[in-house]
Amino acid sequence: MKKKIFVTRRLLPENEEKLKNLFEVTLNKDDKIYTPKEIIEGSKNYDGILSSVSDPINADTISKLSSSIKIIANGAVGFGNIDFKAARERGIAVTNTPDVLTDATADIQILLLLGASRKAYEGRLAAETQNWKWSWDFLLGKQMSNKRLGIIGMGRIGKHFLRLLKGFDLKKILVNDIKIDNSLAQEYDFVWASKEEIYSSCDIITIHTPLTAETHNLITTNELKMMNKDAILINTARGGIINELDLYHHLSSGGLAGAAIDVFNNEPYDGPLKELNNCILTSHMGSMSYDCRSKMEIEATEEAIRFINSENLLGLVPQEEYDVQIKGF
Ligand code: GLV
Repeated sequence: MKKKIFVTRRLLPENEEKLKNLFEVTLNKDDKIYTPKEIIEGSKNYDGILSSVSDPINADTISKLSSSIKIIANGAVGFGNIDFKAARERGIAVTNTPDVLTDATADIQILLLLGASRKAYEGRLAAETQNWKWSWDFLLGKQMSNKRLGIIGMGRIGKHFLRLLKGFDLKKILVNDIKIDNSLAQEYDFVWASKEEIYSSCDIITIHTPLTAETHNLITTNELKMMNKDAILINTARGGIINELDLYHHLSSGGLAGAAIDVFNNEPYDGPLKELNNCILTSHMGSMSYDCRSKMEIEATEEAIRFINSENLLGLVPQEEYDVQIKGF
């Protein structure tokens, strides 16, 4: 008898076919974000769940899942959506797909970096309203060459972002991370710096950290006030790292030139940043390239197959992530 897998997302047609050959599968054809209740009821008597980063699989949801569920394969680099301590207590293995998002997410960082610096959104508004007149305030942006860029968080995505930046002729790259590795600074041609130094001296600041007790509300009015009025702030990492309301007040009072935000506290985002022309908003879409989604789906499926064949899992949540989650906010 085929094992049963509950999939919380729509899959690419070719992956859907592969999965159906191996398992009895329930797919989310409408690609609606399921509520905890829908996940619990939909996966009743299933063997595993193929989930995604926006599925709220918290401790309460896990406590109500069928005891038949033995694996949650999360198609994502982050695991903030799953209480894996609660999962471990119930004997459910949790895996993710840590490497497949690197290129796609670093691409989005470049998109937002250039989009915010060169006023892509304002350009679109000017084109739509046919107001092509040279406007000092509206369309005049900053080019990359000779600028100081600050990166907070130097993991896989941060490193790939640095590789992509090589041709931009930046003046200086400053990086902050909890782990300092001098050989990395040499290899990627940056200098380690404190967060305060980054806030107060960089023209562009980008965030690349996970959301943890340490990074929750990392950037509030205090930190925004340290930044240069001409600076651009970018977050493609996780909502909750920048305080959204503080950012709104700071941007609308001219405290920063612009921002570009892909991730939010509550998604889909429906807050005041939507009112601002100088804040590019995208919809948590770092992984939304065909190549990346396809690899993600295949990897998550392969984990489920390994699990069912009692083989070693390749993307099990590492112990250090448990330790971070246990600390909470
Ligand atoms: C996306 O944000 C992910 O964690 O996969």
